[in-house]
Amino acid sequence: MYNSTNSAMRKVTVPELLARKRSLGAPPIAMVTAYDFTMARLIDEGGADMILVGDSLGMVVQGLSNTIPVTLDEICYHGRAVARGTARAHVTGDMPFMTYQVSPTQAVESAGKLFKDGAFESVKLEGGEAFAEHVLRITRAGIPVVGHVGLLPQSVHALGGFKVQGRGDDAAARLIADAKAIEDAGAFCIVLEAIPPDVAAQITAAVSVPTIGIGAGNACDGQVLVCTDLLGLSRGHTPKFAKRFAELGDSAVAAVADYVQQVRSGAFPDAAHSYKPNHSEETPDSAALRH
Ligand code: KIV
Repeated sequence: MYNSTNSAMRKVTVPELLARKRSLGAPPIAMVTAYDFTMARLIDEGGADMILVGDSLGMVVQGLSNTIPVTLDEICYHGRAVARGTARAHVTGDMPFMTYQVSPTQAVESAGKLFKDGAFESVKLEGGEAFAEHVLRITRAGIPVVGHVGLLPQSVHALGGFKVQGRGDDAAARLIADAKAIEDAGAFCIVLEAIPPDVAAQITAAVSVPTIGIGAGNACDGQVLVCTDLLGLSRGHTPKFAKRFAELGDSAVAAVADYVQQVRSGAFPDAAHSYKPNHSEETPDSAALRH
């Protein structure tokens, strides 16, 4: 049974996340991606239960058109920064393309590197039945695994683009079988990406671990969004499911334009943002704020 008396700042654990299956009366899990210390701190403060250092960092941070070139070292680098900014949320890290597909042994080695060098508390990998053995071997090594079925961005070329998956009875049945295989192999939750809501509901009912939806409707046991979509920082096209809860990108552009104008006019820096000639006039607090 779900226990809602958890302390606000204690780390969210894997057993607690498992207990967040909605059928057990728990509130849905809120997961958000983050790639750096500052964003992780804000997302943690906002109360997210899980932070994902997704390989979406290739597109969000590096400006690539897909996630395929992202490396294990890059996920580790961003993972360490995110871990430093996170007091409560469980932090999971994506296994990039070709760091686990070759063999279950390669998968265990890569997951181990994410655990040791990336400071992650679990790892996420894309794929269904074909990767059950990989999930099993990683979990046997003591590393919790988040599964990911539906739209698999690392297979974007095989899929012919970022397209909705699981439409039609056969495709839906395959997704259900994939999710069950990953659960049986030991995954403690499963991301469902770009799936019709009724299919996501069937998968959610078929597995006993939480499902975390992204473009998969509201029957899932949790939701995940990319932080730059959620905050309205991304420019250009955003997917249909990516609700923007703020428009911080517009605020940032306006703030920078204001700064540029004030620099050009000489209005900034003014006296309030300049040191006084006599150092002793500064309060200890303001002096401590700047080296
Ligand atoms: O890489 C990522 O950010 C992801 C989420 C979209 C689930 O896999």
